[in-house]
Amino acid sequence: MQITPTKIPTEKHWQLYLRADPSKRLIQKYLQNGFAFEIDDNREPIGVIILTPQSENELEIKNIAVAEGHENQGIATQLLKYARHFAKFHGYETLTIGTGSTSFKQLYLYQKLGFRITEVKKDFFVKNYSEPIYESGLHLQDMILLRQKI
Ligand code: ACO
Ligand code: ACO
Repeated sequence: MQITPTKIPTEKHWQLYLRADPSKRLIQKYLQNGFAFEIDDNREPIGVIILTPQSENELEIKNIAVAEGHENQGIATQLLKYARHFAKFHGYETLTIGTGSTSFKQLYLYQKLGFRITEVKKDFFVKNYSEPIYESGLHLQDMILLRQKI
């Protein structure tokens, strides 16, 4: 499936972004400073990704989400591989992704694709979100940062 830049995010894009991150305010910030791409099916987005530079050398995947009926078919894998190509093409040295400590599927997927855990942002989800987040039956508090050299 083809990956194309997202022009103006529609309601469908927002539904996907909000699957990955409940903060509209943070997502807006990532979009303003970053690059958004998508995979479509029947002209509707079914997979989205936002890549935001953190410095001259570091690109961070700030949001990645796949529509519920399309999960576990390799769509996120395709988007993550694209992010690596994009980072390489644009001369970044490091590709970063952050996820919840309770996000077991995501931690599996990111490590499978070569990311290594480099940092824990303790209480990130307590400090930056007004409502508590529950995932896998656990209270999500800490962010795990993973990185790979390009
Ligand atoms: N535990 C471990 N592995 C699992 C689990 C599980 N509970 N469930 C599925 N998997 C495996 C699958 O078997 C597959 O592995 P395989 O390729 O070895 O068979 C892998 O996880 C999933 O790979 P994809 O199919 O490429 O991923 P998918 O298209 O389903 O997208 C995503 C993954 C983006 C996490 C999707 O589930 C989603 O949108 N979730 C909700 C939003 C979200 O959490 N986004 C990420 C937040 S972090 C961020 O945005 C920076
Ligand atoms: N992903 C997420 N959760 C899972 C998975 C999975 N793949 N598989 C099972 N679980 C859940 C179960 O549903 C259960 O949760 P619940 O109580 O909410 O339903 C929980 O994990 C398991 O809890 P217990 O039944 O109390 O644990 P168990 O008696 O099975 O023991 C242990 C766990 C010690 C890890 C056992 O599987 C084991 O001996 N594994 C091999 C040795 C090992 O890895 N030991 C730990 C190494 S670290 C150390 O020793 C310090």
